[in-house]
Amino acid sequence: MNTIAVIGAQWGDEGKGKITDYLAMKADMVVRYQGGDNAGHTIVFNQDKFALHLIPSGIFNPGATNVMANGMVINPSALYEELIMLEKRGINTSKLYISDRAHVILPYHKMLDAINERMRLHPVGTTHKGIGPTYVDKANRVGIRMGDFVDKQRFKTWLEKQLIPINILLKDAGYEPYSVAKLLQDFDPIQDRLRPLICDTSTLVYQAIQANKKVVFEGAQGTMLCLDHGTYPFVTSSSPTAASIPLNVGIPPQSIKQVVGITKAYTTRVGAGVFATEFNNEMSEKIRKQGNEYGTTTGRARRIGWLDIVNLNHAKRVNGITSLAIMLLDVLKGIHPLKICTSYQLDGKTIDTIPASIETYDLCQPVTIEMPGFDTDISHVKSFEELPIEAQNYLLKIESLTDLPIGLFSVGPDREQTVILKPFFKDID
Ligand code: GDP
Ligand code: IMO
Ligand code: MG
Repeated sequence: MNTIAVIGAQWGDEGKGKITDYLAMKADMVVRYQGGDNAGHTIVFNQDKFALHLIPSGIFNPGATNVMANGMVINPSALYEELIMLEKRGINTSKLYISDRAHVILPYHKMLDAINERMRLHPVGTTHKGIGPTYVDKANRVGIRMGDFVDKQRFKTWLEKQLIPINILLKDAGYEPYSVAKLLQDFDPIQDRLRPLICDTSTLVYQAIQANKKVVFEGAQGTMLCLDHGTYPFVTSSSPTAASIPLNVGIPPQSIKQVVGITKAYTTRVGAGVFATEFNNEMSEKIRKQGNEYGTTTGRARRIGWLDIVNLNHAKRVNGITSLAIMLLDVLKGIHPLKICTSYQLDGKTIDTIPASIETYDLCQPVTIEMPGFDTDISHVKSFEELPIEAQNYLLKIESLTDLPIGLFSVGPDREQTVILKPFFKDID
């Protein structure tokens, strides 16, 4: 089997888009399996920069098939706009397929997302893309899936019924009700554009794996935002873990051969919630500036913290990570000393696991080790040996603390600024 899962090991924005695009250059198929346009994946090559929210980051390899699997929640208007954007910029989108079982985000889901946030005891700081309410509707069995959405008569019949309770709720909250006729009119061209792309993607991906094709699974968000294994309730509404791929794609559980845990050389988080290694001073400001740490989807300033080994070992366990990709190493230039959190102090005890309750987690104090930093620009480095010794030692320390090999490290946003240490596909690099 030639399958690789690209998994966010932290709170998202680790550089999954960059690595998926990199691996996609040699892949036959790239599959996005969960989340929606809450994701923002940045890809940079040939002096061009793309921000993708829904379409898999394999779209820049015209030879690769790109799949949006059943575990995703899809805003058809956002997808339509993303397709137009790519086509205008000369990107071939003819090999894109969408699962007939993926759930649809409708305008009222976004509205409900905003209302929910205002009503919560602890606002999550969601992206307001309607992700939570759409997954709620899926679990409550009142959602609509892409296969039915593109059938105009079925969608109309469903919408007429579905909008009755939604409009009562919106009216009570002082909002304008939705008009069935207006929604049908707005979606008409979008349904026509998307219909030819809809199919049974479970069969498509299964056949590719059976034929020993090179398949990359692209996660959105990160392990610490997982609905089950993240910092609940400050999480998203799906599971970005490797364990969720079989369910979210419709393939056998043993289909995942390699799991690459994508992690920054430090940590960031956007949105509210516990963050044990966060620091807020001149140094975090410097990292934010050097790493351009502003959200791809919302533009919000990302919070900054030291690398957290407790977090990485948690991600290693729940995902079965087989190697790490260390991203944004270049950003640590001029940071002295470098710190790594190796455990937490809680009520006078040392712990190395993530507490389930965020109230307990909030009480944890990071225990850190310090390492000398480096001052040279490493953005043109092409090998491990070219790195300053301090950066080499930093990477070696991460390997020993996680007991995981580093498969690659990244020294800039561009596709070229990627240094492979251990080949992923047999014939790559
Ligand atoms: P994703 O959501 O995991 O795909 O990550 P994002 O694209 O949201 O955020 C990662 C950001 O870091 C983007 O702006 C990337 O262009 C950028 N990036 C990725 N790798 C590197 C790197 O090694 N160095 C620097 N300086 N930037 C990087
Ligand atoms: P990528 O794929 C970083 C965060 C939001 C919020 C929480 C819940 O680019 O790594 P949601 O809109 O999902 O209900 O918001 O999750 N969040 C992300 N943070 N990167 C992402 O995706 C994220 N997607 C959601 O900021 O805290
Ligand atoms: Mg992102």
